[in-house]
Amino acid sequence: MTPEELKQLIRTVPDFPKPGIMFRDVTTLIGHGAGLAAATEILADKARDAGAHAIAGIEARGFIFGAAAAARLGVPFVPVRKPGKLPVPVLAMDYALEYGTDTLEVDPAAVIDGQSVVLIDDLIATGGTAHAAVQLLRRAGAVVSRGLFVIDLPALGGADRLRGADLTVDAIMA
Ligand code: PRP
Ligand code: ADE
Repeated sequence: MTPEELKQLIRTVPDFPKPGIMFRDVTTLIGHGAGLAAATEILADKARDAGAHAIAGIEARGFIFGAAAAARLGVPFVPVRKPGKLPVPVLAMDYALEYGTDTLEVDPAAVIDGQSVVLIDDLIATGGTAHAAVQLLRRAGAVVSRGLFVIDLPALGGADRLRGADLTVDAIMA
């Protein structure tokens, strides 16, 4: 399937979770078997080309695509979790996103020092979430230079912001 065909599988829901937000819902993409397979294949190919030794995914939607791509490549998956989920001492960072604030946490033992980790999430908007994830992964010892997303919303400036943090952003569609 082409990126244009994949785009047709994504549902846009106005005013969710807050008035004024056009919510890009990947539920309809992952509910389409060929669409999920094609998106996973594209992300895995890009991660392989970027030299991934491991793939990190951001809870929750980034787990779906990140774990699928990691399994396809046979490399480890590093979960970047929402607060209070990991049963060990964590590295943590607060951040802002398009419709609120949250915290991300990483188990420092989930990353090998110097390991090349590619970050995967479903969507980049302001880039706040990905920026926090990259900082945590780097603090854990990872080398992180590539972020892969199913959807980029360039009007929200996330890719530009992450370029300033030495992260190259690539997405299947904008
Ligand atoms: C969404 C999305 C990204 C983030 C992007 O996650 O999955 O992680 O927002 O926004 P940003 O670029 O402005 O930071 P959300 O926090 O809604 O969590 P979910 O995956 O658990 O639904
Ligand atoms: N995360 C941040 N902004 C979003 C949007 N517009 N749609 C889906 N997820 C998002």
